[in-house]
Amino acid sequence: MPRFISGQPLEGETEFELSLRPRFFKDFIGQSKVKALLSIAIEAAKTRAESLDHVLIYGPPGLGKTTLAGIIANELGVRIRPTSGPLIQIKGDLTAILTNLQPHDVLFIDEIHRLQPQIEEVLYPAMEDYKLDIIIGQGPSARSVSLSLPKFTLIGATTRAGLITAPLRSRFGIIQRLNYYEETDIAEVLVRSAKILNVDVESGAVEELARRARGTPRIANRLLRRVRDFAQVKGDGKITSSLAIDGLRMLEVDDHGLDEMDRTVLQTIIHKFNGGPVGISTIAAAMSEEEDAIEEIYEPFLIQIGFLDRTPRGRVATPRAYQYLGVEPHDGQPPLFR
Ligand SMILES: Nc1ncnc2c1ncn2[C@@H]1O[C@H](COP(=O)(O)OP(=O)(O)OP(=O)(O)O)[C@@H](O)[C@H]1O
Ligand SMILES: [Mg+2]
Repeated sequence: MPRFISGQPLEGETEFELSLRPRFFKDFIGQSKVKALLSIAIEAAKTRAESLDHVLIYGPPGLGKTTLAGIIANELGVRIRPTSGPLIQIKGDLTAILTNLQPHDVLFIDEIHRLQPQIEEVLYPAMEDYKLDIIIGQGPSARSVSLSLPKFTLIGATTRAGLITAPLRSRFGIIQRLNYYEETDIAEVLVRSAKILNVDVESGAVEELARRARGTPRIANRLLRRVRDFAQVKGDGKITSSLAIDGLRMLEVDDHGLDEMDRTVLQTIIHKFNGGPVGISTIAAAMSEEEDAIEEIYEPFLIQIGFLDRTPRGRVATPRAYQYLGVEPHDGQPPLFR
């Protein structure tokens, strides 16, 4: 079963998200450095009547990568052609997309780390020289022709920046990382969403929700939606602080936004490996979980809130993690902090 506090979209959530998705920078909350840099690049490209440099956006799920791609296209005043790494199966798929682009259009490739190598190779000359090399005919009469493409902007998004090959990465002029949001930014996201959804939320309730949203707008909106239902059934529809707290308790999201899986990660490190350092593959084996899942889904947020440390010798549970779980370290101090 998918986790309720997963950064990834849950089933049936797409439509709800679409209604809340900001369309222009003015509605995109937080990430001020990324916004500033992109706005300037967009302004400059527009002034010169050129296409915008290719943009790579990376970061954990639910932080606004797809949203930003849409905003960039809107701010440029061009069309966006969305696709994703796993959707492009054969070279012909990509060729068809590329040859149908209009000048300055945005081609958005989500999960770009999942492009197959032979397809990635088609992208290199397309990104660099706006050229497409295709083979016409078969056997001895086959010849290669080079087609000119309109100048376009490729926007790539990924949760796994480490899996982007160096040649692909080097062809992006703008590379931006999205970070987890500050609680005050998440509160702003919640207020904005509540307004769109036409639901009344007390400021205390906004705080309760923001604290548990794991710095992730997608999770904030999800919590708001569920607590809204709760307030409708248990109250008169207004989300008061106490209704928010009760609703959140029912969803089994704790004060820090952690759930059972997060706690299991910490408990495994503390109880089975004496707090670490322990390698990720060992943790994965001990939990019967996939290494990837731990590294991509659970770990980043635990590191972000200072419960976990990544050291050259492996993962370490911090004193805060001990405190959170109410575990007394053997000799007063957790390992590496002795
Ligand atoms: N800065 C923001 N301000 C307001 N709302 C936001 C912001 N960023 C994201 N959101 C909201 O969060 C939802 C999820 O964002 P989005 O789909 O862009 O995430 P993502 O990074 O593409 O996730 P994934 O890795 O799963 O593709 C959006 O529908 C939008 O409503
Ligand atoms: Mg996305």
